[in-house]
Amino acid sequence: MSQDTIKATLIVDKSFVIAEVDKRIYGSFIEHLGRAVYGGIYEPGHSTSDIHGFRGDVKSLVRELNVPIIRYPGGNFVSGYNWEDGVGPVEDRARRLELAWRTIEPNEVGTNEFMNWAKEVGSEVMMAVNLGTRGVDAARNLLEYCNHPGGTYWSDLRRKHGVEQPHQIKTWCLGNEMDGPWQIGQKTAVEYGRLAYETGKAMRLVDPSIELVSCGSSSSAMPTFPEWEAVTLDHTYDVADFVSLHQYYGNRDKDTANFLARSMDLEHFINTVTSTCDYIKAKKRSKKTMYLSFDEWNVWYHSNESDTKIEPWTVGPPQLEDQYNFEDALLIGSMLITFLRHADRVKMACLAQLVNVIAPIMTEAGGTAWKQTIFYPYLHTSLYGRGVSLQPIVNSPKYDAQDYTDVPYLDSAIVYNEEADELTIFAVNRHLEAGMLLKCDVRGFEGYTLIEHIVLQHDDLLAVNTAQEEKVKPAKATGTVCKDGFVETLVSKASWNVIRLGKGSLN
Ligand code: AHR
Repeated sequence: MSQDTIKATLIVDKSFVIAEVDKRIYGSFIEHLGRAVYGGIYEPGHSTSDIHGFRGDVKSLVRELNVPIIRYPGGNFVSGYNWEDGVGPVEDRARRLELAWRTIEPNEVGTNEFMNWAKEVGSEVMMAVNLGTRGVDAARNLLEYCNHPGGTYWSDLRRKHGVEQPHQIKTWCLGNEMDGPWQIGQKTAVEYGRLAYETGKAMRLVDPSIELVSCGSSSSAMPTFPEWEAVTLDHTYDVADFVSLHQYYGNRDKDTANFLARSMDLEHFINTVTSTCDYIKAKKRSKKTMYLSFDEWNVWYHSNESDTKIEPWTVGPPQLEDQYNFEDALLIGSMLITFLRHADRVKMACLAQLVNVIAPIMTEAGGTAWKQTIFYPYLHTSLYGRGVSLQPIVNSPKYDAQDYTDVPYLDSAIVYNEEADELTIFAVNRHLEAGMLLKCDVRGFEGYTLIEHIVLQHDDLLAVNTAQEEKVKPAKATGTVCKDGFVETLVSKASWNVIRLGKGSLN
């Protein structure tokens, strides 16, 4: 063994069950922001666009990711949005000043167009209601418009707009980041808690089958975290099914070892919110468990550091267009691993966002659609991370970083898909210089052999993909063996790995 190699072991067994993975942890997000909608999913006149103006090449990439749920229409946008502006004949729709991002909203795409697009890409929609400038009335009307079959004012209006069948949207967010000073119509925790409860109550009267997400803190760094959760949930606990979490990370001080350890902060955040939910559960003597909807998460800082000045009051300007590098993909992998290891409480998560705006998919106006580095860990977990999340027993050397101590070099999660007879080991080697000799005890999975070992690795941590060149892309790792109930492999330094075992074989 060379000096540049470390050793780690992992044990997994069918009985180490954390929980069934809710596929909705592979959700994403489209906001009326920047070029996400206008110039992203929607570009009339593009060579691949359908008769409604939606790009076919973008639809194909979204389908490839197999995204189960997409949050819409915001984000900060929703707190100033009048949903009625986005329905009915397009030529009659109002052009509005959009205050969250200081753009012009032409309202060419609204609820019905987006629902139709989502159906085509095979996704459910997580619809957010405006609790910034609006409240109970607008929310219950929107729900009636979307979900009621007919015979009432709002449901018949939908039918008049050419949508005979109700959309049957199951999941609804009660506002967005209402704790944030940047939010249009920011609320105190008590103001929000009361409004969200009353809105949720009215919405449930319209359609008792819906699920509701109560707004959590905008990030764990908010000064009001976690008191916000405690106070708001005290009001909304009985009406809500989920509380939201949002978190973005960056590597501003160019300390990669510390950056890759940020998933430990994520883990701490999840644990704190879980404890706060359980405290309210105990306080209320409730039998109900509150689940977590991590409905905004990503790396986001590159675009904030650029000097590009964006003119206000235009349609679809290039806002928040982070160009992701290879180390970003590693942290995205670790964040997904963290969600899998908390599959018992994190039931939904939305990579924010999906197209052009802090996104895995980018488009050129009139040109191609291409994949950022972060596309790949998201793709791999979405494809192979469905089943039961199993607790890996990990023995790994550790390091101390600027903000974290005892960071294991090996970060991993395991998913067992009984139906497909497959076991997938997701692993990040956080060591920036050393490969890792990894031995996995999988003796509980008799007869399993190696299907494939996919690896995402690049010697340059700052390597990026562009429309012209895909520098960071997955490859097949060689040298991995699965024999007598053990997998042995040399995991490359700084790499994302997907080791698939099963009774089938690709070879
Ligand atoms: O995803 C970008 C923005 O980040 C969202 O609009 C907002 O909810 C969050 O602050």
